[in-house]
Amino acid sequence: MLYTVFSMTTAEIRQKFLKYYEEQGHKVIPSAPLVPENDPTTLFTGSGMQPLVPYLLGEPHPQGKRLVNSQKSFRSQDIDDIGDNRHTTFFEMLGNWSLGDYFKQEQLPFVFNFLTEELNIDPKKLFVTVFRGDEKTGIEKDTESIELWKNLFKEKGIEALDTDLINEEEAGKRGVKAGERIFAYDTKKNWWSRSGVPEKMPFGEPGGPDSEIFYEFDFVVHDNKFGENCHPNCDCGRFLEIGNSVFMEYWRSEKGFEKLPQKNVDFGGGLERFVAITENTNDIFQIDTLKGIIETLEKLSGKNYKDESLTPAFRIIADHVRSSVFLIGDGVLPSNSEQGYFVRRLLRRAIRFSDKLGIENSGLSELVSPLLEFYKDAYPETFDKKAFIVEEIKKEEEKFRKTLRDGQKELSKRLEKGNLSGEDAFLLFSTYGFPVEITEEIAKEKGISIDKESFNSEFKKHQDLSRAGSEQKFKGGLGDTSEKSLQYHTATHLLQQALRDVLGHTVSQKGSNITPERLRLDFAFERKMTDEEKKRVEEIVNQKINEALPVQNIVMSKENAEETGALHFFGEKYGDQVSIYFVGKDLATAFSKEYCGGPHVKNTSELIGTFKIAKEEAVSAGVRRIKAVLE
Ligand code: ALA
Repeated sequence: MLYTVFSMTTAEIRQKFLKYYEEQGHKVIPSAPLVPENDPTTLFTGSGMQPLVPYLLGEPHPQGKRLVNSQKSFRSQDIDDIGDNRHTTFFEMLGNWSLGDYFKQEQLPFVFNFLTEELNIDPKKLFVTVFRGDEKTGIEKDTESIELWKNLFKEKGIEALDTDLINEEEAGKRGVKAGERIFAYDTKKNWWSRSGVPEKMPFGEPGGPDSEIFYEFDFVVHDNKFGENCHPNCDCGRFLEIGNSVFMEYWRSEKGFEKLPQKNVDFGGGLERFVAITENTNDIFQIDTLKGIIETLEKLSGKNYKDESLTPAFRIIADHVRSSVFLIGDGVLPSNSEQGYFVRRLLRRAIRFSDKLGIENSGLSELVSPLLEFYKDAYPETFDKKAFIVEEIKKEEEKFRKTLRDGQKELSKRLEKGNLSGEDAFLLFSTYGFPVEITEEIAKEKGISIDKESFNSEFKKHQDLSRAGSEQKFKGGLGDTSEKSLQYHTATHLLQQALRDVLGHTVSQKGSNITPERLRLDFAFERKMTDEEKKRVEEIVNQKINEALPVQNIVMSKENAEETGALHFFGEKYGDQVSIYFVGKDLATAFSKEYCGGPHVKNTSELIGTFKIAKEEAVSAGVRRIKAVLE
């Protein structure tokens, strides 16, 4: 059979995907905002399943058991990868879900047929991976998927051989032998949960084996830098992962891995990657959504995207501006704390790279229009905010340019003295927001090097809470589960109970937000707390830390959970099975009990430092906000 692939626009493929699954009985659900609501462990929506977690755990979804959508997503941890031909921080994830309905037997044909029949992709270009089993969790190799894949390829006249590839290193040594198309890898590659491999999953978190699909760009020559031989999970760019079917049937309990009450399918496919393969191009910055922005950049700069020394700069600007546009559209304004810091980082990084292309002054805001043209129909709510987004980007650009100019003057003054201490570099950073790499580059031109060690120690000493915090968040990325955040999460539970002990049982949580630097808790209470009350609350929390109480998780039916008197907030809906975290030796005598999915520390003694309320203020009528630290 001849596969003539007609390239399609992003909008066409998005529509095709939704329609295809609708015809298979799925309901189209809207894309959730990029900032999840009421989820203290996750800053951004990074995959289609994220807003669906309660339903994957068993709560009935109002739209039924078969869902489909295209979810806008942002992954901050991918920032360092931006510049290559396939990574972006913002992307649209095409997703379909079975919530306890169909499983592997239906899912693999669904996705294979969509690719080969609807998009007309040549099956010879497709390679798949499956889970090879794992001794630690006791979960067995996914032989069912192997058989299903063999049959699917066979129907297309292809005999697909399977093989065990142990791990990436082994795979890199071995490579791909003739006829092999189905590869079994370990948990690192073929297990999916929001926190990664099984050992990293907090108690209460769902996950499972997965099966990924790769497209082979046969014109890309393997680069030995990535291993002796190429294989589907090699990073050289010959194989591109285009979709992932997660067979989400497990959750992690204290005892190990247990079956969820229902078997779920969670599929995620990269919309732009689908578009790229229909064009057989391995550069997703060349497809319609990003092409407009790249062309505008070419016009503004007079430079050529194809100039290899500049290509990464074009890509970084295009990616960062697009993410900023969507984040601002979802209400995240550039700032020094929380999600806003990412927008600031993205825009400032984009500005520095636009300088590289020789674009000055408000160049970035000119990219908003050509970008949003492509999203007009799919995201009218963002398109409608165009003028506002342009203004915000302009303001941030002006602010940063002024900072750069002031910093530049200050730097020149200091450089005239002939040296630049770590303290000086730190001052430039903390006062003028002058990134140390820029300081270094300028100083280098004058033959002066900075004492990086003393800069770093200054940096640590004066670590500004929110700025440095966001820096860490940047590394931590999606669903920050750093040790410090876990400590603050447990401290939040202690704080709530202490507040109820001191202020009475009308205190109830209205919101919570946790970073590695502090916790923030909003709660219903009518008036300002007195100093006495704050002191008492601090004492109680510190006492519980000193008592070294175990922090434990238990999952039980909704009825039993209600009887425990565990706290639950937000008027949230819960499934039949509820996860409770309690602090104390047993549930009956526990100091704190809450409905919560985790993650937490294992013992309150892991909370390092003394608990202190840094701020107590009003956020709205009847709602107070506490910011607290462990120091
Ligand atoms: N949730 C799965 C992923 O993000 C589909 O890969």
